[in-house]
Amino acid sequence: MAVVKTRCVILISGRGSNLSAILKATQSPDYPAVIAGVVANRAEAAGLQLARDAGIPVSVVPNGDYADRPSYDLALQTAVDAYAPNLVVLAGFMRILTPAFVAHYAGRMMNIHPSLLPAFTGLRTHERALDAGVRLHGCTVHFVTAELDHGPIIAQAAVSVHDGDDVASLAARVLKVEHQLYPMAVRWFAEGRLHIDGARVRVDGITHDTLPLISPVLESFL
Ligand code: GRF
Repeated sequence: MAVVKTRCVILISGRGSNLSAILKATQSPDYPAVIAGVVANRAEAAGLQLARDAGIPVSVVPNGDYADRPSYDLALQTAVDAYAPNLVVLAGFMRILTPAFVAHYAGRMMNIHPSLLPAFTGLRTHERALDAGVRLHGCTVHFVTAELDHGPIIAQAAVSVHDGDDVASLAARVLKVEHQLYPMAVRWFAEGRLHIDGARVRVDGITHDTLPLISPVLESFL
């Protein structure tokens, strides 16, 4: 019997490296999700070409064409819903979404943010992490709620901040773990393993180890 896979629609504004990571995961026959479509708010978004090259249908809904946020989000919702998604995946989609749009996809829309939330919501996260002198930085996949960069956290990945880091080197280290974390979170959703319980998300079948994350680490700790 054919297995029914979870249909994802991925929303992008730019480069599309997270789209690419999820696309790669979907190419494995046992991955439980497929990308049904990619929607961008900018025709120049480089990620659109990645999708086209993979034979995935794309739509562009340019935000400049709409008078206000509610009318834009309604057009966006129509474009997204045309692909009949089970899950909407925000991957570098640089738009603030209206509460009505968010409510329409409640419990079935996730986002990746390049910080360990709730630290550094918003933009320039790597620069702000360096300015704050944190030793651990990273990324977060969370369900989307009406408040920007909030919403129940599904998974986080931490990286250490190195003494010689600049924004580019830190961003590259975080991006590498983004590309591991996002396909994993999408897989869990598709497997029906994510359960929202208030502010928290329970993931079925996870063994919590007790390995501490310490940075910088002294040899005597190892
Ligand atoms: C990523 O850093 C992601 O965390 C943030 O926007 C960036 C998108 O990069 N939300 P890409 O387009 O996936 O390469």
